[in-house]
Amino acid sequence: MNSFSFLLFSLLISVVIAIDVGTLEHIDPTLPPALPGQTPKCSVLILHHDFANTVGAPPASANYTQPAECPYPWTRVVLELSVSASDVQKSRIAAIWIDGAEILRTSTPLPTSSGAFWRVQKDVTRYATLLRHLSGGEAAGRMVYMMLENSNETLPGVFSANVTLHFYRGALIDGRQGYTARPTVKGLYRQPADVILPVSQGCYGNGFWFRIHNESHVPFSSVTIPSNTFRAVLEIFASHHADDEFWYSNPLRSSYSGEFPKSNGGFRQLYATIDGKYVGGHIPFPVIYPGSINPYFWSPVAAIGSFDIPSYDLDVTPFLSMLLDGGPHEIGLGVRDALPHWLVTANLHLWIDARSDTVLAGVVDYIAPPMKVSKNGEWRSVEGQSEVNADGLVRFSGWTASSFGNITTTVRQKITFKSQIEVQNRGSVRQVEMINKARNTIGVTSGSQILGRVQMFVESPLQLQSTMETEMGGGELERTRLFHELQEVVNLNENQVVSSSTLIDRQNAEGSALVHDGVTLWGSGSTKSSYKYRDDANACYLRTVSTEGGAVKFDMSSPSCSTMAEA
Ligand SMILES: *[C@@H]1O[C@H](CO)[C@@H](O)[C@H](O)[C@H]1NC(C)=O
Ligand SMILES: *[C@@H]1O[C@H](CO)[C@@H](O)[C@H](O)[C@H]1NC(C)=O
Ligand SMILES: *[C@@H]1O[C@H](CO)[C@@H](O)[C@H](O)[C@H]1NC(C)=O
Ligand SMILES: *[C@@H]1O[C@H](CO)[C@@H](O)[C@H](O)[C@H]1NC(C)=O
Ligand SMILES: *[C@@H]1O[C@H](CO)[C@@H](O)[C@H](O)[C@H]1NC(C)=O
Repeated sequence: MNSFSFLLFSLLISVVIAIDVGTLEHIDPTLPPALPGQTPKCSVLILHHDFANTVGAPPASANYTQPAECPYPWTRVVLELSVSASDVQKSRIAAIWIDGAEILRTSTPLPTSSGAFWRVQKDVTRYATLLRHLSGGEAAGRMVYMMLENSNETLPGVFSANVTLHFYRGALIDGRQGYTARPTVKGLYRQPADVILPVSQGCYGNGFWFRIHNESHVPFSSVTIPSNTFRAVLEIFASHHADDEFWYSNPLRSSYSGEFPKSNGGFRQLYATIDGKYVGGHIPFPVIYPGSINPYFWSPVAAIGSFDIPSYDLDVTPFLSMLLDGGPHEIGLGVRDALPHWLVTANLHLWIDARSDTVLAGVVDYIAPPMKVSKNGEWRSVEGQSEVNADGLVRFSGWTASSFGNITTTVRQKITFKSQIEVQNRGSVRQVEMINKARNTIGVTSGSQILGRVQMFVESPLQLQSTMETEMGGGELERTRLFHELQEVVNLNENQVVSSSTLIDRQNAEGSALVHDGVTLWGSGSTKSSYKYRDDANACYLRTVSTEGGAVKFDMSSPSCSTMAEA
């Protein structure tokens, strides 16, 4: 255990027992993928499983049959994972795959009593091709899998999970185009991909994911793509564990000796390679797991992104010339500065030119200077400070000649990142500050004509302060404050039509916990969440939720962002 980590981190089990029974339903106050009043044409329970003792076991699996009344195509498909816990348990990580391709990464809340339950809903329209081909069944090697490694030996909780797909056909009243949910770089990909190839561990004995142990460990999958592919996007899924569970608050200690383990500082980058060549990366959003910082913050409202852990898109169209020779190529996945371990997979989304057998492609520009990373750390015993600054600017450009013409795709990314960690007063005062700013631009041109352009700005600040006091009767009282935010602004220009969307997802939390001899005697937390999404079609959606002592004190949602809900 990292000595810096807040005391609470190591005391998960005692904490679980000490939390008062509050509300039984855990919630993630985000934009619902389908508004109430929109009824799906079909809802199909595709997998049901009780996860009791599943450490080291292969994922649960199920055959699938598409209902005859809901054939492809669909306007929208929503995945619903509904879970209940039989008793107290730790928070666990889980994932759902179709045919080896991941469609959801999630973490469970900390169930503090029997009957705790929650629902994760995700728009999975972008994986329509996987669903479409699912009906082949086991014979075709096409099945649904879910993994959730749980043990009911120390704590008794068993997770009971249902996975349901809701299929919508026909027009939807919310007017949203294409898929919804987390509005990341979707703009130029209105049409879901025609083919999705998993970049994951083929043998699923221990899950489909790669376990990345360190920065030099870059596992890969071999893929062969159709020779008439004209667009390719690599979607990376990742979650951080063990020594990197709190990577965003890791001080920078350059390896050693007895007292402190090696700790790499608060910077990580997920990236991909094709045949060993760097093809882009993203700094991951620091998802806070339900047992982290102060578990009282995350009940009953989930931390940003913890129910639907964000995935990261890399447009790799500029690199199609490397892949279009009909032969196998290695897609590698890495995590810069990683400590053991990260669970990582990716999906390669491919769009096929139905009107030609071969697409030609070439590279125009490959400008990928190494990111400028400066690291400083000064520590004397537990006190000190460290800082990591990173700046990066890359530009990739390539052409594809297909039945759509000779089209050039240019990807640009600019990243500015800063992490600062400070510990004072013999370890009793701690401060973590992080900010990641990224600008991603994808432009599509034909000759001098601009066909489309999508720009995404991401800004995610994290601030954490905690103080620890020794109490009269013994034990330590730790007070913590947290501010965490995800901002995404997407501007889309497609055939001269301009549209934009803005998401601001913000949490402020404050609380304390009294820890004595490794046992949490008492704790409290209050969290204010505010989720605001605005786009041209949907106008606005706002939800604000305040929680205190495990219960919801205020919960207001507004499909129009009326100021009432801002209270
Ligand atoms: C899937 O279907 C096949 C053939 O009907 C059957 O043999 C197999 O046991 C089923 N698998 C599951 C997990 O239900
Ligand atoms: C799962 O589905 C079954 C059957 O419909 C239902 O009895 C059970 O309550 C569901 N469990 C959860 C956690 O939704
Ligand atoms: C774990 O859960 C399973 C299934 O509910 C049960 O049979 C088993 O007795 C439980 N183990 C312990 C140690 O409680
Ligand atoms: C990195 O991890 C891999 C895979 O576990 C291991 O083989 C290798 O020795 C590690 N390298 C370093 C430098 O620790
Ligand atoms: C497509 O355009 C690029 C320049 O934008 C050119 O270099 C390439 O030769 C063209 N390819 C074909 C097949 O015309």
